[in-house]
Amino acid sequence: KILILDFGSQVTQLIARRVREAHVYCEVHPCDVTDAWVREFAADGMLKGVILSGSHASLWEDETLRAPQVVFELGIPVLGICFGMYAIAAALGGKVEGGHKREFGYAEVRARGHTQLFEGIQDYATPEGHGMLHVWMSHGDNVTEMPPGFKLMASTDSCPIAGMADEERKFYAVQFHPEVTHTRQGKAILERFVLGICQISPDWVMRDHVAEAVALIRKQVGDEEVILGLSGGVDSSVAAALIHRAIGDQLTCVFVDHGLLRLNEGDMVMDMFVGKLHAKVIRVDASELFLGKLAGVADPEAKRKIIGSEFVTVFKQEAAKLTSAGAKGAKWLAQGTIYPDVIESGGAKSKKAVTIKSHHNVGGLPEQLGLKLLEPLRDLFKDEVRELGVALGLPPEMVYRHPFPGPGLGVRILGEVKPEYADLLRRADAIFIEELRNFKDEASGKSWYDLTSQAFAVFLPVKSVGVMGDGRTYDYVVALRAVQTSDFMTADWAELPYALLKKVSGRIINEVRGINRVTYDVSSKPPATIEWE
Ligand code: XMP
Repeated sequence: KILILDFGSQVTQLIARRVREAHVYCEVHPCDVTDAWVREFAADGMLKGVILSGSHASLWEDETLRAPQVVFELGIPVLGICFGMYAIAAALGGKVEGGHKREFGYAEVRARGHTQLFEGIQDYATPEGHGMLHVWMSHGDNVTEMPPGFKLMASTDSCPIAGMADEERKFYAVQFHPEVTHTRQGKAILERFVLGICQISPDWVMRDHVAEAVALIRKQVGDEEVILGLSGGVDSSVAAALIHRAIGDQLTCVFVDHGLLRLNEGDMVMDMFVGKLHAKVIRVDASELFLGKLAGVADPEAKRKIIGSEFVTVFKQEAAKLTSAGAKGAKWLAQGTIYPDVIESGGAKSKKAVTIKSHHNVGGLPEQLGLKLLEPLRDLFKDEVRELGVALGLPPEMVYRHPFPGPGLGVRILGEVKPEYADLLRRADAIFIEELRNFKDEASGKSWYDLTSQAFAVFLPVKSVGVMGDGRTYDYVVALRAVQTSDFMTADWAELPYALLKKVSGRIINEVRGINRVTYDVSSKPPATIEWE
């Protein structure tokens, strides 16, 4: 295993992710663990290497940010990244100084000399035969003097010591960030460290993670009862399946159906969790309540607030029933919080990370309910959560489903939400999704559902004139939206084939009586958002 010590960089978890992608087990812990803790961690003889992370700012002056000295005494390889490089320099007798120039973004690094870390890894070679790497840098300080025993491994014009190595002791340090994808050879460099230098065999797979996670949940929860809010989305579904695997009937899922779900979604969730997994699920049909509260409300923000607060109210009522059974009542609230949620809310394990924004998943509920929080997906990225879902036996169609917003169709019916509108929208949306799944792109062999990040229909409460058979129609309009994005912060509208759009519009207009016109949304984000409300 690899120990990653976190000095508070926003991207520390990416190091863990790259190591896990190399099929090597690793754990991230704060940099201020004690020497004794590290010795204990290494006591099983499995610790084969340590990685010291970057930090989010120039914190060199902060004397508490130093690596535990013992990591240099265990006789195992150490890799320092950015701030981690200063930590190595400081611990072993080098010198770090505040740089005169902050360097942020792309840089070209010249690999000097011959080290095991870089051997054979380069983006291109200069005419003189030096290996060059395109890397991503973010630093203000510099190592100005290497510790005794270290050789220069890399440099840039503005950073003469951009990498250093003591090959005898297998200590390596780089100023740039190999864990981010902007560093093209970053993955190869980290793989070289864990597989080549630390000599770990790449045999860690998601199956192992299931076993570890199950053991951890059992240890945390003991014989106490757990409640989980199941939404049908990927994260809560995978969390439910995992916790159910660990503690079976000690888990009760509460599935609040607000009446704004997709076609047959409620039944599908029940079939999966009750029918196949035999989990305990309480389905609360609250559609009348929600639609009643939404009647006459047209303002998007007001609608969102109503849906959000009703959801919390209904969930709390159900949770209260489950917690009120005295000593046998539920003691835990489980949530499908994943690592990006943790980063966004500034709750990453390190106290040093900066807060960016608070996230709805992580706030208040457990305290209000007097429950302890169980978050078994906290360390995982979305694609790892999906992989875990598949390893737990969830169907790939569920695990690879496009995201669906909490307020559901409430933000896809413009203006006032009416049951009639929701029915029409659900049917149109289901046709669109079905055809996206059917329609394959010849070049890649993938379906257009897999080639888009999110796709859905939007109900426009305006009527337009049409002609059907011999008759005139005067019916509603739906807009189709399909986007491609990697992070949902920006998005391009998808260039769906005309043949697909034609098929979808033909089917919707023929099969959904009440809709006589279909349009395609060709707006990118920004300036448009993905949802219409
Ligand atoms: P926008 O419309 O802001 O959407 O471009 C970006 C992504 O966020 C989803 N979204 C939500 N998800 N609760 C959620 O759980 C919400 O209130 C919400 N609003 C937007 C949206 O579907 C898209 O994936």
